[in-house]
Amino acid sequence: MIRSEHVQSYLDALRPERDPLLAEMEDLARRDGVPIVEWETGRFLATLTAGLAPSTVLEVGTAIGYSTVHIARELPRGSKIITLERDPDRIAHARAFWERGEVADRIQLVEGDALESLEGLPGPFDLVFLDATKTEVSAYLQRLEGKLAPRCVLVVDNLLMSGEAALPEDADTRWSRDSLAAGRAAARELMQSGEWLFSLLPIGDGVGFAARRAPGRSAG
Ligand SMILES: C[S@@+](CC[C@H](N)C(=O)[O-])C[C@H]1O[C@@H](n2cnc3c(N)ncnc32)[C@H](O)[C@@H]1O
Repeated sequence: MIRSEHVQSYLDALRPERDPLLAEMEDLARRDGVPIVEWETGRFLATLTAGLAPSTVLEVGTAIGYSTVHIARELPRGSKIITLERDPDRIAHARAFWERGEVADRIQLVEGDALESLEGLPGPFDLVFLDATKTEVSAYLQRLEGKLAPRCVLVVDNLLMSGEAALPEDADTRWSRDSLAAGRAAARELMQSGEWLFSLLPIGDGVGFAARRAPGRSAG
């Protein structure tokens, strides 16, 4: 947890009554050790979707489809979310939850390795959510070149990594050294990027939030 206990308790108390479908997904994820976004991050994604009204959302890393539900529920009529996952058991759970949640009609799941799937997707994507292998973040972004809408908004989960991203590099950590190094590099590169205007938000496990810059703007 990246927030102090009293701040987290305050945030928990603000949370509305648990939606039964989301609660079931959270329970399954806890029981089976499936990593899903924290509820606040799901809420943030839903809020962004409601505000931006994107035509096409891309999600890399579906798991059991929890963040997908948060996004899909807020999509305008005719819009869709394309989500990429390689684990067949998680895909089966996701599809069943989406049917029950009555959002399956606006979700397209592409099964297989995202690094390959991304090559075959044309875009343009208005909102991109990266939540798969942390060491692959820069490879996902490379594969998305030329496929982003001019005003695309990007969200990357786990950039604070339980707060461990802020520890010295030789500290004992639960996150692997490679993931920590990749997460730190992604935050640094996005912050210095000429293409993205980037903030690292202390929501959930640390959410990277970026908007594509109009051409000609500086990185300062
Ligand atoms: C953190 S979970 C996604 C959680 C989901 N976004 C949510 O919050 O409900 C990451 C998922 O990405 C998948 N994944 C990781 N690397 C992948 C890759 N290269 N291609 C496809 N799926 C990948 C894993 O199988 C895992 O289910």
